[in-house]
Amino acid sequence: MDTFASIVEGLKAAGEATRLRLLMLLRTGEISVKDLTLVLDQSQPRVSRHLRLMAEAGLVTRYAEGSWAFFSLKGGHGAAMAIGRVLQDIDPNDPVLVADRERLGEIRAGHRARAAAYFANVARSWDKTRSLHVPETDIEAAILDLVGGTKIGLCLDLGTGTGRMLELLGPKAGQCVGIDSSRAMIAMARAKFSDTAANDISIRLGDIEHLEEYEKSADLILMHQVLHYLEDPGAALASVRGALKPGGTVLLVDFAPHAHRFLASEHAHRRLGFSNEQIASWAVATGLGVTHCRQFPSKLKEKEGLTVCLWLLKETDKEQAA
Ligand SMILES: C[S@@+](CC[C@H](N)C(=O)[O-])C[C@H]1O[C@@H](n2cnc3c(N)ncnc32)[C@H](O)[C@@H]1O
Repeated sequence: MDTFASIVEGLKAAGEATRLRLLMLLRTGEISVKDLTLVLDQSQPRVSRHLRLMAEAGLVTRYAEGSWAFFSLKGGHGAAMAIGRVLQDIDPNDPVLVADRERLGEIRAGHRARAAAYFANVARSWDKTRSLHVPETDIEAAILDLVGGTKIGLCLDLGTGTGRMLELLGPKAGQCVGIDSSRAMIAMARAKFSDTAANDISIRLGDIEHLEEYEKSADLILMHQVLHYLEDPGAALASVRGALKPGGTVLLVDFAPHAHRFLASEHAHRRLGFSNEQIASWAVATGLGVTHCRQFPSKLKEKEGLTVCLWLLKETDKEQAA
């Protein structure tokens, strides 16, 4: 149980119009300070101050990535839970809140459009580009090592791009579905598999946040170099969790935290890598736990290179028992 004082602090921190608007926005998922500033049309120092006060009162969580910061609602107990109940009772059709959500929708649509334009542009040369990043052979060997011994019925490769992961895992799975939101990318992937009748591999246009048709059906879900393009990786993981068969496995491959800002400005990255703690906290929020984690440092000099991480996620025992 939380103390009287901490609940008073929480109520005080939330008891202001801009802060309530921020909290209502954060109910839709994790948002960067920059985007919140654009939605509210207020200065960044002002918005940051509101967020800092709410973080100190235990209502929101801050996740820093270099000079960027992302905020999300803090779940769980105490003041956050008390305020969570208040937020539930606020009329979502209030014109100010409707306008805020619409503005956030426009900003996110802008990010998605820039990413889509980027992938449409690079689709033809992607197979070459992807291999520049990292020690690919080592990573692919580790993926096979980790999943090779298990029986895979359905494998979903989310953000399949040109389908390299489907080539790798196709022979290991009964059925593989590659899903991607870029028409240009799936055209390349389809061309790749048009002659291979041997394995059951299909390519679908789709969004990682909408996997309803695969509910609880996938033995293995893979996201290889995809998470850093997403608006809200935590929400994506919740969607992934919904498509996972009980006892199934999620494999994430992405960058460790880095400082290469040009990847955001020139290559549509929304995140500059992920720490183990960040991945673990998103996993826990969806009832998964990280059971294996491995790093692949770049062969370039330390500051130039990108370290790739591989995280294996499974249901926690508690979830399996439920
Ligand atoms: C960097 S590429 C990686 C492709 C592939 N996994 C690989 O390793 O070569 C990221 C892919 O994710 C796709 N993508 C980004 N956001 C997505 C979303 N919300 N739903 C589905 N695909 C998405 C992009 O279109 C792109 O093809």
